[in-house]
Amino acid sequence: MNLLDTIRAVSIVPVVALPEPGHAVPLAKALVDGELPIAEVTFRTPAAAEGIRLMTRECPDMLVGAGTVLTTAQVDAAMDAGAAFIVAPGFDPVVVDYCLERSIPVMPGVCTASELTQAVLRELPAVKFFPAEAMGGLKTLKSLAAPFRPMDFMVTGGLSMDNMAPYLAWDRILAIGGSWMVKKQLLADRDFDRVRELAAEAVQAVRALRS
Ligand code: 3PG
Repeated sequence: MNLLDTIRAVSIVPVVALPEPGHAVPLAKALVDGELPIAEVTFRTPAAAEGIRLMTRECPDMLVGAGTVLTTAQVDAAMDAGAAFIVAPGFDPVVVDYCLERSIPVMPGVCTASELTQAVLRELPAVKFFPAEAMGGLKTLKSLAAPFRPMDFMVTGGLSMDNMAPYLAWDRILAIGGSWMVKKQLLADRDFDRVRELAAEAVQAVRALRS
């Protein structure tokens, strides 16, 4: 299965800010136990690269991407650590082209027609719509996407169990992403049991919605 099909099969991506590398493996195990073997580990904390390295080494069944990637140096650090894909909150042509030149899967963030144009001209198969809820949600995304060739979207920003259903009903949505099952406080408390429960709950809901 190719990368995008694998992401679509799960349809939900936990967006993680690791407080320290020591959280990486127990967190990955909790997600795998909750049947959610995927994570976007963001470069919002200095633990990202080492966390990705540990997750991919200790939990080979996990699909680990790097998020909030803002520079080409962070692309290098993420790929060196074993990341399977790169995600960014915005569209920086320098970072996107750097990835494309190296055949690194990249999903830049878009929330305007101008950014989407840049993605379409580069023939990207998927982009991230961020910050989804603040930008007007699914209604805005459908209007934005309408003039362009079919493209898949990962949607994040303000998503939760309460509002994910309409997004998942649209087949152009590759996956929704969110931090609610890996919240800062849960990680700070090392409450990995709760992470597993929230992940399992989310997976069950997504399966019901996408079956
Ligand atoms: C992201 O980087 O994708 C978002 O910050 C996740 O959004 P959330 O914290 O509102 O779920």
